[in-house]
Amino acid sequence: MNAALSGSMEQMDGTTVTACERCPELCDSRSRIVNGVGPEDADIVFVGEAPGATEDERGEPFVGRSGDVLDEALRDVGLARADVRITNCVRCRPPENRDPTDEELNNCRPYLDRELERIDPQIVVTLGKVPSEHVLGRSVGITSEAGRIEDVRIGGRSHRVLLSVHPAATLYDRSQRDTFEETIATAADLGGSGGSGGQARLGDY
Ligand code: URA
Repeated sequence: MNAALSGSMEQMDGTTVTACERCPELCDSRSRIVNGVGPEDADIVFVGEAPGATEDERGEPFVGRSGDVLDEALRDVGLARADVRITNCVRCRPPENRDPTDEELNNCRPYLDRELERIDPQIVVTLGKVPSEHVLGRSVGITSEAGRIEDVRIGGRSHRVLLSVHPAATLYDRSQRDTFEETIATAADLGGSGGSGGQARLGDY
């Protein structure tokens, strides 16, 4: 176990956090811990901000309206949701869907690092400003930087990170839709080739 996870309040089994009480407010607001879903050998990992109400209820990331947008964009490029890994920077729902605080992001960071370390994908896609800034460790203008790829050191290794607008942005600003879909197509191109038998494009069959 990672030294940062060795406290008595945290437990992580593989990529699954089974117990954590590091963030008192989130412990109060959550119904459950929402862990990442998808294959442990996925070539593409999507990283969102934090669970919303539907995710908290169902215990799975991106299963509300944002998830519908993501699923549809994946289908459009011939990928199935079940073939990619989907996770969040913070695994517990913040009250009233507020942004997670820096402290909460940092508390949850060892879990994300460990998940990425185990999965070691071809490409990490950050969905929105908060995850992009958190993973890159700098401020990001997500509308202008969406589609950009950077190599980032996460945990012990370098990962290719592709910045994306958040799928929810396409719901209130239609002009973000093309940007989002183009970024997902880039992710499919970068993550669909090579690797250890991760996702195949459905169109290949
Ligand atoms: N938005 C996120 O960032 N993550 C989710 O899991 C759902 C919506």
